[in-house]
Formats: sequence, structure tokens, C-alpha cells
Amino acid sequence: MIIAIDGPAASGKGTLGKRLSEHFGFAHLDTGLLYRAVARVMLDRDLDLNDRDAAHEVALNLDVTHLDDPRLRGAQMGEAASVISGYQPVRDALLAFQRQFADQPPGAVLDGRDIGTVVCTHADVKLFITAAPEERARRRHLELQKRGEQTEYSTILEDIRRRDERDMNRASAPLKPAADAVTLDTTHLDADAAFQAALDLVKAKTASS
Ligand code: DC
Repeated sequence: MIIAIDGPAASGKGTLGKRLSEHFGFAHLDTGLLYRAVARVMLDRDLDLNDRDAAHEVALNLDVTHLDDPRLRGAQMGEAASVISGYQPVRDALLAFQRQFADQPPGAVLDGRDIGTVVCTHADVKLFITAAPEERARRRHLELQKRGEQTEYSTILEDIRRRDERDMNRASAPLKPAADAVTLDTTHLDADAAFQAALDLVKAKTASS
């Protein structure tokens, strides 16, 4: 079984993906980490983020075994990932790994921007998680504070708006709900309520098919 979760930056899709995977005993892949890992190599090697060929080369040779590096979660990496993820050859280079991951028994949960629309178009359940930009910025601000990163709320909100704009308007695999996705707005839900709502949607969907 495959559960595809898409949504904008800081919508809570990663947390939901993790909790759903634990609930069902499935593997979980936060696909944003793949793009962040490409960005990490680019930045570490002082490569220009606008160099599409270099980004493609890095994606083709990406070592996917170190996705737990806490540095990947930082704001700088998210911004850089948003840039290089706009390059179609980079996306193509990361596709096979994601599809292989999705196909493992007994099931997998993948979250990202194009899981329901490109990576796993045949997913059993497709969720599109969204929340107001101000609420997403508030959550991201708290999360970064907990990690000791001092960033202004207004800077984070600006960053989220810029990333939404870039992720939704790019030519390659723009962020949008798949035609058969169910949208869950978590603006007024805390983490537990969002998980319960997502679980109910998954159960309803799998019961009806
Ligand atoms: O979900 P995230 O913030 O970790 O993602 C970082 C960037 O990677 C995001 O701005 C867009 C890109 N991304 C993507 O294009 N496709 C995905 N499936 C996941 C992330």
C-alpha cells in the first residue's frame, strides 16, 4: 500500500507522514530530504545553485544513506533545495529511487510536492496537506527556536511565501493537489487532531476501495 502526502513548506506533512507510517508499520520517506541533500553537496562544494548541469551531476551521484543529517533541516538548505528542485533533470535523477522506495512491502508513506501527481500516481491514498502561511510560519518559527536557530517570525513568513510562489509556479512538477487527492487544512488543528483527521481519511479511502 502506498500513501502519498503532498503540501507546501511547513504544512506538517512530514510529521503526519512519520506518524501514519508508524501507525501502519510502513516505511517513510520525506522526499524533501533528497532535494535538501543535493543542495547540501552543492553548498559544501561551493557550486553555484544556478548551475543546472552541476546540480544534475550531484543528483545522479547522490548518496541517499545520510538523510538523517540535522543540517539538512535548516532554513538555508530548504531555500537552496527549492532552487535546485526546479530543474527537471534533477527531478528525473531522483525519481527511480523514490519509486523503488514506494514499492516495498507491506507499504510506504512518501511526502513531498509531487508524490500524488508524478512519483506515485497509482498511490492507494493521496492526501494534500495545507495550512495558512501565517500558521505555517508560526510552527516553523517554534521548531527553529527549539533547534537553537534564531530567526525572526517575519523572515520565516517571507521565506514561506517565496517558497510557495516558487514551488507552485515552476514549470517542472509544480506543487498542486492530484485530481484524486483529499485536501486536509490543518490551520486550526493541533498535531494530534491533524493526525486523527488524516488517519480517518486514510481509513475511509481504503475501506471504500
Ligand atoms: O518539504 P521540504 O521543505 O523539505 O522541501 C524542500 C524543497 O524541495 C521544496 O522547496 C521543494 C522541493 N521538493 C520538491 O520539489 N519535490 C518534492 N517531492 C519534495 C521537495
